[in-house]
Amino acid sequence: MNMDISLNAEIGCFITDLNAVKASAEEFSAIKKLLYKHKIVILKDQNMLEQQFCDLAVALGEPIPYLQENYHHPDYPLIFVSSNVEQNGEKFGVARTGGYWHSDTSFLDYPVALTMLYPQIIPVNSRRTTLFIDLEKALDEMPTELKRCLDNRYLIQRGKWKYKVREEDVGLDMSEIMMLIHQVQPPVSHPAVIRHPATGNKTLFASRGFTIGIDGMGTDEANTLLESLFDFIEQDRFISEFQWQLGDIIIWDNRFLAHKAGRLAENNDPVSGDINKEEDTLVYRIIIRDGLPLGNK
Ligand SMILES: [Fe+2]
Repeated sequence: MNMDISLNAEIGCFITDLNAVKASAEEFSAIKKLLYKHKIVILKDQNMLEQQFCDLAVALGEPIPYLQENYHHPDYPLIFVSSNVEQNGEKFGVARTGGYWHSDTSFLDYPVALTMLYPQIIPVNSRRTTLFIDLEKALDEMPTELKRCLDNRYLIQRGKWKYKVREEDVGLDMSEIMMLIHQVQPPVSHPAVIRHPATGNKTLFASRGFTIGIDGMGTDEANTLLESLFDFIEQDRFISEFQWQLGDIIIWDNRFLAHKAGRLAENNDPVSGDINKEEDTLVYRIIIRDGLPLGNK
C-alpha cells in the first residue's frame, strides 16, 4: 500500500494504490491507524458498487443507518444519500446537506465517530469540497482564558435547527415539528474537551451547527462564550479544504474535526448558494462506529 501524505494541508493522507474492494484485514487496520494519525484518509481511484461500499464500512467498523429514513438509499439503507437528482422519476435522498459547521451525529448519546463519503456525481462548474476545522489544533492554540471557561464543562448538542422538513410534515405547524424532533432526538451533552481514545490527545468537541448551549450556564452567558469559541475555531489557520475527485472515498474521524460542505467556482472562489442554479450532484455517505468511545478521561 502506497501512502502519499498531503503536502498542502496539515491534516489528511492520500492512499493511492489500494483497491479497497480487495483490501486485506491488515490493510484495513493500516487505514485505521493512518486515520487516527492524520484525521482524514482519502482512498483514490476507487470503483465500487453500493453493496461494496457497505462492505467497506463493515470492514472499518459498525456502520449505522442515519436516524431519519428520508435520507436512506432505497435499496441500501446504510447509505445516506445527499443528492438533488431523481432516480427512476423519484426523489433520491436529500438535497443541500451539511452546509454549516458540524460533527456528524454529535447530537446522539453515542456519536458515530467515522464518516465515509463517496461522491457519485460531481458538478462541473461548481466543484465540490469539504472544509474541515482541526479541533485538536484549535484547542492546542486556544487562549488560556477561553480554555479555562471550558474546563470541565459539558456542551449541549442538538440537531433540530438543521432538520429538513419532509413530505409527511406538511400540515404540521412549527411547534408540532419541534415537538416531534424533540421526541425523536432530545438534546444531549458531551464534554467540551475529550481525550481521543486512540491517540490520547485532547481535542475540542464543538461546532456552530449543533452545539447550542452549556450545561449549568445561563443562555446569554453560554451564547456569548460559544460565539467567541466559534469565532476562534473558524479561523483560516485551522481550516483545510479538500476538493473531491470522482473515485475518491473520503474517511474522517469526527472527534478531531468539524466539517462543512463547500463549493468552488472555476476561479477557486467560494460559490454562494443559489438553489435554482444548482448542477446535478450525488454523494453517498455511511457513518461508522469504530468500537471506541467518543473520548477517554
Ligand atoms: Fe456532515
